[in-house]
Amino acid sequence: MATMESLIGLVNKIQRACTALGDHGGEGMSLWEALPSVAVVGGQSSGKSSVLESVVGRDFLPRGSGIVTRRPLVLQLHKIAGGAEYAEFLHAPKKRFSDFASVRKEIADETDRITGKTKQISNVPIHLSIYSPNVVNLTLIDLPGLTKVAVEGQPDSIVQDIENMVRSYIENPNCIILAISPANQDIATSDAIKLAREVDPTGERTFGVATKLDLMDKGTNALDVLEGRAYRLQHPWVGIVNRSQADINKNVDMIAARRKEQEYFESSPEYGHLAHKMGAEYLAKLLSKHLESVIRQRIPSIIALINKTIDELNAELDRIGRPIGVDGGAQLYTILEMCRAFDRVFKEHLD
Ligand code: GDP
Ligand code: NA
Ligand code: MG
Repeated sequence: MATMESLIGLVNKIQRACTALGDHGGEGMSLWEALPSVAVVGGQSSGKSSVLESVVGRDFLPRGSGIVTRRPLVLQLHKIAGGAEYAEFLHAPKKRFSDFASVRKEIADETDRITGKTKQISNVPIHLSIYSPNVVNLTLIDLPGLTKVAVEGQPDSIVQDIENMVRSYIENPNCIILAISPANQDIATSDAIKLAREVDPTGERTFGVATKLDLMDKGTNALDVLEGRAYRLQHPWVGIVNRSQADINKNVDMIAARRKEQEYFESSPEYGHLAHKMGAEYLAKLLSKHLESVIRQRIPSIIALINKTIDELNAELDRIGRPIGVDGGAQLYTILEMCRAFDRVFKEHLD
């Protein structure tokens, strides 16, 4: 029997296969939508990309002030047993990136390829996979930040366009929401919490993340939020201290940043007692644990969807006519075989 970790890995593989081969979900929920993912939601420059990087433990996302993230980035982390880590983009499948600075550049270039070097956004996602011995198996989605007004070079509709794009990801009941709220603004009424509450009123799939604790006004603190009094969610709030812009400019690396974050909490008179439940590393573990329990609950419905997909693929192949010669048919056949393999493994996990 495979371990839970390999089961999450398997889910990741199906997501990747569905992405690569196009969606064969037919009517109703597609297999892709049935599998859990984690999306970040928050205002512009609230620290979304920084939190994702920290959770991954690698520097590879464009970050900074203003609207930097302008297309959804669907990031799949695949844990590998050993060897050197590398990244691959769906739009450049034959190219392996082993240097994460070039991953960041490729994301920026690929964003511009669709939107130009503008402040416009696009709904077309960028798909990136990272293979590493040092990650947990997760699908993470980085999204443009919510904003209140269009700036020079943006259409007036941008405020609503971004909100609609974000909503389209987080209204999926299988999407886990990281609601990113900067602590130097009113956290409990943040845009992230407002939108999360709309799609997840009971808070069962929302994780509140308070960033920029280090930037709060002297004499104030976020204990009301972090201890769940200001806005109660079913999961505990996690406080985060990401790299500042000065740190980014000085190229402070991830290991140093994590150490600094941990020191911040441990030495803090206000947050010291919460230090073991704060920071990006803790958030990554919390997410992974939650994902595990969600997948366990979903195994029967995932099997049902896999079988529905198998039926639909069979019908499609019958329509095309067998034996398969054409390219499209061969692709369908590949995903069919994969679904059958997944079906077998998932059934082993049924009690
Ligand atoms: P996004 O627009 O929500 O993706 O935010 P980014 O991750 O790009 O961060 C925006 C800016 O805020 C960058 O300059 C970051 O260095 C800075 N920043 C993000 N989180 C923190 C934090 O916890 N503390 C400090 N001091 N700066 C932060
Ligand atoms: Na930003
Ligand atoms: Mg961003």
